[in-house]
Amino acid sequence: MALIAVVGSINMDLVVTADRLPNKGETITGKDLQYLPGGKGANQAVAAAKLGADVQMFGCVGDDDLGKRLLENLADAGVETTHIRTVPGVTSGTALITVGSGDNTIVVIPGANAYVDREYIDSIKDELLRADIIMLQHEIPQETNEYVAELGEKHGKIVILDPGPARPISEALLSRVSYLTPNEHEAAVIFGTEKDPEELLKGYPGKLIISQGDKGVSLCTADGELLHFPAADVEVVDTTGAGDTMSGALGFMLARGSSLVEAVRFANYAAAFSVERYGAQTGMPAYDEVLSRFPELRN
Ligand SMILES: Nc1ncnc2c1ncn2[C@@H]1O[C@H](COP(=O)(O)OP(=O)(O)OP(=O)(O)O)[C@@H](O)[C@H]1O
Ligand SMILES: [Mg+2]
Repeated sequence: MALIAVVGSINMDLVVTADRLPNKGETITGKDLQYLPGGKGANQAVAAAKLGADVQMFGCVGDDDLGKRLLENLADAGVETTHIRTVPGVTSGTALITVGSGDNTIVVIPGANAYVDREYIDSIKDELLRADIIMLQHEIPQETNEYVAELGEKHGKIVILDPGPARPISEALLSRVSYLTPNEHEAAVIFGTEKDPEELLKGYPGKLIISQGDKGVSLCTADGELLHFPAADVEVVDTTGAGDTMSGALGFMLARGSSLVEAVRFANYAAAFSVERYGAQTGMPAYDEVLSRFPELRN
């Protein structure tokens, strides 16, 4: 099995539930506080590792209690954490989430994720380049993504960029990645809304994979064939982390040597599986669980 390296964010989501959101300046009593490990980088590393991939995580945490918990959580999921840097005097990436009356407020502190810079990449470069597949997202400085993609391309690696949260990407970065996996909103931010979706996909054959939530996922093969995989019909419990499960599963399948089309087909089911479970990382499946849940995948 080929080796996967994820270079990206590692966060803790602190989720408090209350009957309603507090007004400005108001103090209200909440119910419980949950610590949910997240961050798109860590989520994708966990998704690939749970499926059975050999995954090494590269990123930064703070030297606080959350940082320790985040490292433990990754290790528990089977992700190699040796080269994650603990940055002294810095907060670990944290999202403060308040949930009340069907709505929420979120404050994100990038914290240590901002330290995933060129200097850090240089310090782990030899280890990073042992991997065959490098996975990137948009929760670390874009300059770092540019640098890693350049290194990856130069050394013949497969580079997968999941461009969420949405922000524009440079032509250079786009040309260097092997696969780009936006959702529909991110695709609109990157490519604009003038082109119809099919025309857009045809412009990037064998490269652009657009996820469409409960509609499924689409791509154009390297041969120019447009393919759409409809989403599996599942009971929606929690869609958090569905996209990250899809990206992690794509990495896992490519690491196993699957074709792009086979990989996307499987990833569409793996992501649907995660939607039926609560939590981003807790909902991510093992390989056999996906096959048992969706026997049609064996065909
Ligand atoms: N309601 C659903 N039913 C079945 N599958 C779903 C559903 N929602 C999402 N999925 C699966 O998850 C994939 C990714 O979903 P989506 O396009 O919403 O990603 P995303 O917006 O990037 O999510 P994230 O916020 O986790 O990054 C879809 O392509 C599909 O395979
Ligand atoms: Mg996403």
